[in-house]
Amino acid sequence: MEEVKKDLLVIAESIREGRTSRVPMGILFTGPMGTGKTFVAEAFAKECGLTTIKLKNFRSKWVGATEGNLEKILNVIRAIGQVVVIIDEGDRAFGNTDGEGDGGTSSRVIARIKEFMSDTSNRGRILFLVMTNRPDKLDVDLKRAGRLDRKIPFLYVQTPEEVELVARALVRKNKIKTDVDLAAIRDGFSAKLVGYSNADIEAVILLANDDAARAAGGDAAVLAEHFLRAATDYFPSRDAELLEYMELLAVFETSSRRLLPAKYASITPEELDARLRQLRLIVGGRR
Ligand SMILES: Nc1ncnc2c1ncn2[C@@H]1O[C@H](COP(=O)(O)OP(=O)(O)OP(=O)(O)O)[C@@H](O)[C@H]1O
Ligand SMILES: [Mg+2]
Repeated sequence: MEEVKKDLLVIAESIREGRTSRVPMGILFTGPMGTGKTFVAEAFAKECGLTTIKLKNFRSKWVGATEGNLEKILNVIRAIGQVVVIIDEGDRAFGNTDGEGDGGTSSRVIARIKEFMSDTSNRGRILFLVMTNRPDKLDVDLKRAGRLDRKIPFLYVQTPEEVELVARALVRKNKIKTDVDLAAIRDGFSAKLVGYSNADIEAVILLANDDAARAAGGDAAVLAEHFLRAATDYFPSRDAELLEYMELLAVFETSSRRLLPAKYASITPEELDARLRQLRLIVGGRR
């Protein structure tokens, strides 16, 4: 995670300083739900020192409106320059456009955005940041080099130490009162949460906080016993195969092995492909 943030800030600096050849046209964040894609994108938007624009629901919002509106928006983006354009839930935005019954406006709008994204005269001035947990549903030509040419995997935390890093950040984020050193209760706490999503870890912490409030009032500090109980109590609702599928898709898409945890650093493309095929049959159209 820290590695990813550092890479992103270097890219932002290259944009600010006009070293365009160092800047990717677009970045794709992939990984299962709750791994922090949206969180990191928002943190980057705040810290990068560039204007950021979020394109939201453009299917429902712009499709049907005149395509001229889209042109206006693209012109504004181009005029701003040095701008990061963020598109969350990219598979929904850019997924299959068949059968939408809008007379083809939808596919024209998307085609126009894709064309805009691959206009290399914008390199270094406009950076696209697209997030998805289903990169397999993204249009293939979006993923080809020259559009989203840097792909960053977001995976579930792999070690108790990583769980503790995320948990500490979440304690701060949620302004939870506690003096507990999480490393001191590693066996009963973070070791149990390995493989959980950041969203699950957040749920465990909030559960501990509720528990503390129930025991000693709303202002009470969270004690070790509350964290331990919450870690045992919490039952993540999950579809293990779908999550493994999303995780392996992220590994498959990644453009750099350096960003992969040890568990995947030595996987061969053949092994990966075989497991993905298997899972694809199992998960089919699940979401
Ligand atoms: N590094 C982190 N530090 C603190 N909080 C985090 C971190 N990463 C994620 N979170 C929190 O975990 C939760 C899930 O993260 P987020 O919504 O970014 O996941 P996501 O990858 O975008 O999931 P989805 O694919 O479902 O959109 C959020 O509440 C977020 O604030
Ligand atoms: Mg998200």
